[in-house]
Amino acid sequence: MSFRKPSKDNSKTDKFTKDTFLSGIKILSYLKPHKFLFFLGAFFLIVSTVTALSFPYLFPLLVDLAQHKEVHLIPYNGTTLINITSRLELIEIIVALLIIQSIVSFLRLYIFAHTNERILADIRYDLYTKIISLPISFYEKNRIGELTSRITSDVTKLHDVLSIDIAEFIRQIFTLLGGIVLLFLISKELTLFILYTVPVVVVFGLFFGKFIRKKSAEAQQAIADSNVVVEETFHNINIVKAYTNELFESNRYLQKVNKIKNVNLGNAVFRGLFISFIILVMFGVITLVLYKASGLLEVNKLTVGQVIQFIIFTVFIAGSLAGIADLFGKIITALGASDRITQILAIPSELDIKEANANKINGVIEFNDIHFHYPTRPEIEILKGISFKANKGEKIALVGSSGAGKSTILQVLLRFYAIQKGSITIDNISTTEMNIQDLRANIAVVPQEVLLFGGTIKENILYGKLGASDEEVMHAVIKSNSLEFIERFPEGLNTIVGERGVKLSGGQRQRIAIARAILKDPAILLLDEATSALDAASEKLVQSALDTLMEGRTTIIIAHRLSTIRNVDKIIVINHGKIAEQGTHQELSMMQDGLYNHLLKLQYQLH
Ligand SMILES: Nc1ncnc2c1ncn2[C@@H]1O[C@H](COP(=O)(O)OP(=O)(O)O)[C@@H](O)[C@H]1O
Ligand SMILES: [Mg+2]
Repeated sequence: MSFRKPSKDNSKTDKFTKDTFLSGIKILSYLKPHKFLFFLGAFFLIVSTVTALSFPYLFPLLVDLAQHKEVHLIPYNGTTLINITSRLELIEIIVALLIIQSIVSFLRLYIFAHTNERILADIRYDLYTKIISLPISFYEKNRIGELTSRITSDVTKLHDVLSIDIAEFIRQIFTLLGGIVLLFLISKELTLFILYTVPVVVVFGLFFGKFIRKKSAEAQQAIADSNVVVEETFHNINIVKAYTNELFESNRYLQKVNKIKNVNLGNAVFRGLFISFIILVMFGVITLVLYKASGLLEVNKLTVGQVIQFIIFTVFIAGSLAGIADLFGKIITALGASDRITQILAIPSELDIKEANANKINGVIEFNDIHFHYPTRPEIEILKGISFKANKGEKIALVGSSGAGKSTILQVLLRFYAIQKGSITIDNISTTEMNIQDLRANIAVVPQEVLLFGGTIKENILYGKLGASDEEVMHAVIKSNSLEFIERFPEGLNTIVGERGVKLSGGQRQRIAIARAILKDPAILLLDEATSALDAASEKLVQSALDTLMEGRTTIIIAHRLSTIRNVDKIIVINHGKIAEQGTHQELSMMQDGLYNHLLKLQYQLH
């Protein structure tokens, strides 16, 4: 559970450490299933690099042949392996190589694309699946925008590196090596002269690379921070608008955008310096080489063709050195991204999403001296020794003032959070020993504020039981009192509810949630102030649907309006995380100084 929350800990993400590297390269395990294809691609890549090098080697020889000089294609220990005497002969070889080059280039590109896209699809899927199978507490510690950023920009970074940079890196390395070998064949003396400059370039490359990497990590973080603003405001757009805080939010975003801009501009300084340094070194070396080579030409130690060859390869080598430094920087940044990804992937999931269907339970619930605090606020104990029992099919109501801990009782029953002390059992089995799937598949929740998914009414109802038949859906629609309003829409069940259900009223959404629960057919039902946000008319409709839904199920009802819970089997009054009193409505209303009686009087005065 060592996922670092970047926004609070910038210093850590800026540094590229051994740990980042080790954790980052773990992403390579995704290569394993595709390793054959990958190495095949790499092989073609190397072949295409070598054939690409042969052209600048061969072209200048045309000049020598035109001057009626015999050309030694591959000089070897003073003798030659292949002698060429006519330009046509040379052109034939070049054409043959061109054909090989084009075939191999296609193959390597296609094969690499194949492996990369598969690897990325695997990573995207695994990352998303991992994140949604993590406990609720993970979402409280990480902001949604940052998580989205992991899936989008970090994966995109990996995509770029896998699909372009790694191949390019291999190509440049082989260009460098091949170029040096060919240079040696032409002139040892000049080659050694060039090689002296390599360490200088490498040292500077490492020096600039360090700054560039640091700035890139900062830029990544700045982008993630800006995504947080976007996500939060888009989700709460109604609130932003109701308070006409568009300007405030724009300014908040502008700050983040400027941060990205400034970080990237800072980076541009180093990149610019690096590039101009490379240009200076490269052209400096070429000038010197040209000077020396023309001297060798003067004394007939080299032919014109060889001098041209030499210059071209010097440019090649300088280019690939610069390229390698740049690509190295990119690969390192991608390792940072993959480090963040592998860290998330390493967090234990709370359930295996591929697990088969859950077992049915009876629904006997028992809370035994439960103590609980939220992971984000360990210093405040919310539940302080809660014990109660609900037999199969019983209805238990939780009442108490706002903030007393009622909803928290439902959250720990669902095992959204781990309790610190005590035990919760269902059918006499501790919920911690139950499979989370078994537990949650047997519980349906109807909250106060129902948020729907953006699809149709039907899709939203089917969420309770994917693959339910049309008859089952219709049955749920009727039982939840939803038919009345669904029929009024021209498209009926296929009406699009709008993002998060904004096109439906609260009471309508509530009844869809009830239909969902009816389809799910759970043994346990949790109602968290399911009717308290509704007007009297819709409350009546929803309440009667709830009554149907509750039949035969163990139900825990958190009720705001006490009139709705007169007939439950037991009422439990929660006060500051403790049970203050419990009993039937009759029993509790008899206690003159009781808390329940006090609440009753308050509500009576209100109405
Ligand atoms: N996810 C959370 N993280 C930290 N504290 C929370 C969280 N949810 C609720 N709380 C705190 O727990 C207390 C009880 O909340 P809750 O169970 O929702 O009360 P209610 O009885 O009104 O349903 C409140 O003080 C609330 O601030
Ligand atoms: Mg609550």
